[in-house]
This record gives sequence, structure tokens and C-alpha cells, in this order.
Amino acid sequence: MSKITTGSLLKMKQDGQKITAITAYDASFAKLFDDEGAQVLLIGDSLGMVLQGGEDTLGVNMDEMVYHTRCVVRGTAKALVVSDMPFMSYATPEQTYQNAARLMAAGARMVKMEGGDWLCDSIRHLTRNGVPVCGHLGLTPQSVHVFGGFKVQGRDEFHAQEMYRQALELQAAGIQLLVLECVPVALAERITKALRIPVIGIGAGPATDGQILVMHDAFGITSGYVPKFTKNFLAETGDMHAAIRLYVKEVSEGTFPGPEHCFN
Ligand code: KIV
Repeated sequence: MSKITTGSLLKMKQDGQKITAITAYDASFAKLFDDEGAQVLLIGDSLGMVLQGGEDTLGVNMDEMVYHTRCVVRGTAKALVVSDMPFMSYATPEQTYQNAARLMAAGARMVKMEGGDWLCDSIRHLTRNGVPVCGHLGLTPQSVHVFGGFKVQGRDEFHAQEMYRQALELQAAGIQLLVLECVPVALAERITKALRIPVIGIGAGPATDGQILVMHDAFGITSGYVPKFTKNFLAETGDMHAAIRLYVKEVSEGTFPGPEHCFN
């Protein structure tokens, strides 16, 4: 069984094969997702909301990310494990490096940071020192209070142009994967076509190179509010393994997300 690497993901993009990613926070679910064929497991700082019950992701700290990364790594045989850098853990290149090193030592094989071109120095510092980086643009939840809520980003021409430019700059700085969250379909498509690296979408339409969901959303576990871009795969299948198998199938075949999950 060969492990998924940054090289495998790049080849999937080049071959037009869609990438399936999902968040995981513990060994049991990591094993289930890995067994059912997800190529990327993200220890998202969304754990601050779905595990800890917070209103946002800002309360998550490095010790918690390291702990959940260790758990996920123990349950994963094949998928690429990516860990989020939590709020305020990457304010300077040196701080970024120290904290990313902790996640890599816990078994992560890539770290994800939210934000645009102001991260380029840190991205260069990490990649030169052996740490692969995933970027994250669009609705970056750590900036929810700057945005004034969880809102679709890049709807007007100015912000769309800015996001396009920043995606190219992040790629030039060395990111090897990019997450686009809550972005209009046409903008996500334009960015995906312009980048050489794979782009994974969540609420970004069907044209990205892959999709990611927060695992609780894929199982229909909500605190009341159900985001438009999610789908409850458990409702159709009645079994967790079958639900993830269906998610992987629909992403690979390009049938998820459908028009009802998209923003224009
Ligand atoms: O924290 C998280 O789970 C994420 C995904 C929604 C992409 O960043």
C-alpha cells in the first residue's frame, strides 16, 4: 500500500483525478476515512467548534493541535495528514517554524495556514526547512471577526482579483496545496486553472481539483445551522463506512458538489 504524498496529489491534478479530503481528529475516524479511500486527512482547527463547542476556531492552541495530530497519525496508513496551524501560532516566520516543527514531529506531513501574501516569508522559511505547506484563502475562519461573520468571499471584482493574485503569490512562495473556502464557482475555477498545484474546495464549486468537508457535516451532525455547501452522506446510506465511500465516489465522479451546494 503506497502512501499519498504531495507528488501523488500533483499527479492526480495533472491526470484530472479528483482528490477527496476530510477532517479527522482521532485515530478511529482517521482509520475509517483512510480505509474508505480519502487521500487527505486534515486535523482542522474546526475542532474548536465541532469537538469543543466553541463559536469559532480562535480558542484552539498548539498543544491541542499536536495531541489530535498524534491521534490521527496513529489511525492513518495511507492518506496525507495535514495539520492546521491554529490562531496566532504563525505571526512571525520564526514562531511559524517552531510551531510547524511540533506538528511535523507529531506526524503531520504538511501544515496549513490561513491567509494571503503576508505569509510568503514564513512559507519560504518552512519549505526551505523541509515543511510542506498548504495555503487557505477565501473564508478563512480565523479572520471571521474581520469579515464580520462567516460570509462568502471574493464576490466583487476587486476582492476576486486580490484572491487570484494572492493564490499565485502563495504558489510562488512554495505552497504545495491550496484550500479555497466559500468562494464563487467561477472564481474558484479561474484560480484552479491558473495554479499548477492542486486546489481543494469547500463551498467553492465543482471545478476545484478536490473537495474537503468537516467530518461532522458529512455525517449530518450539526449544532442546528447546516451550511449550504455540506451534504449529509449518512442520511442516504445509514452506515458510516458507506457514507464515506459515497462521499469519495461522488467527489471522484464529480457529482458532489451539486449546484445546490454552490455560491455564485
Ligand atoms: O479547520 C478546518 O476544518 C478547515 C477546513 C474547513 C478546510 O480549515
